Amino acid sequence: MRHIISIRDLNRHEIDEILDQAQNLQAHHHDPNALKGKLLGLLFFEPSTRTRMSFASAMARLGGQSISMDSVEASSMVKGETLADTIRVVSGYVDTIVLRHPKEGAARLASEFAQVPVINAGDGAGQHPSQTLLDLFTIRQSMQLRGIHVGLLGDLRYGRTAHSLAHALSLYQATLHTISPKGLELPSGLASELRDGGTEVIEHDDIQEVVKDLDVLYVTRIQRERFPDSASYFKVASSYKVTPELLTGVRDHLVVLHPLPRVDEIDPRVDRLPYARYFEQSAYGIPVRMAMLLRVMG
Ligand code: NCD
Repeated sequence: MRHIISIRDLNRHEIDEILDQAQNLQAHHHDPNALKGKLLGLLFFEPSTRTRMSFASAMARLGGQSISMDSVEASSMVKGETLADTIRVVSGYVDTIVLRHPKEGAARLASEFAQVPVINAGDGAGQHPSQTLLDLFTIRQSMQLRGIHVGLLGDLRYGRTAHSLAHALSLYQATLHTISPKGLELPSGLASELRDGGTEVIEHDDIQEVVKDLDVLYVTRIQRERFPDSASYFKVASSYKVTPELLTGVRDHLVVLHPLPRVDEIDPRVDRLPYARYFEQSAYGIPVRMAMLLRVMG
């Protein structure tokens, strides 16, 4: 069974295969009945706009259908049912489960109890592999992935999209420049894993120091919901912002990405600049998630 829990579950060859297939799906007509008769279970125990709707849209475009459970409160988990039991039961109803859950490790646990493939749509501060595939896909529309300089800006401690992306980029010999508020640095375990694997990870105090050397600037919001209390959030809130002024003199081909939602970390005036690709990026969620669904169910 092909679960996709962490981006580490895919090697570089498999990632390239998914991206190539997404490129084909985007460029040519696809079989609108490829997943006819298949049912996708969307279990989202945390808020989501893009991930949930684009998985549902991708499934429908391939002729399949989706059913969903949107909160713990609306499910039998409120009666005390464990995630393991819930997953065992839902496994009997659908052909693939897409799970988003506030606890790191929840998707891995689910995969141990599921009789059908599980795709992790975000597990706490852990991983978000489908986001990473669409991030890579977006970068690939503008440049080769190999050897690029990528700035990771923002909450790199709790940001699961940054964790998955950093690992994936290391497979393509990227140089990673990390810029985060104090206390929100990339987890030291992940930074040492990347460095041990030969990836250059360079920490910067200020985005200004490095922005002119970047091919890609990946901006993330502060993950307020993961903070122990609001006082510690407000200590770091609004501590960085990408503005048109910051982007003067950057490389012509710079691509600015953001997994969205944004709060205040990208000035809306940046939206009009040629570097801004974050809305295109979210649209690429469709071909990329179609390719993922075909991989696990096709
Ligand atoms: C991200 C997530 O859920 O981790 N959102 C998304 O799926 N595009 C990023 C975020 O919430 O900051």
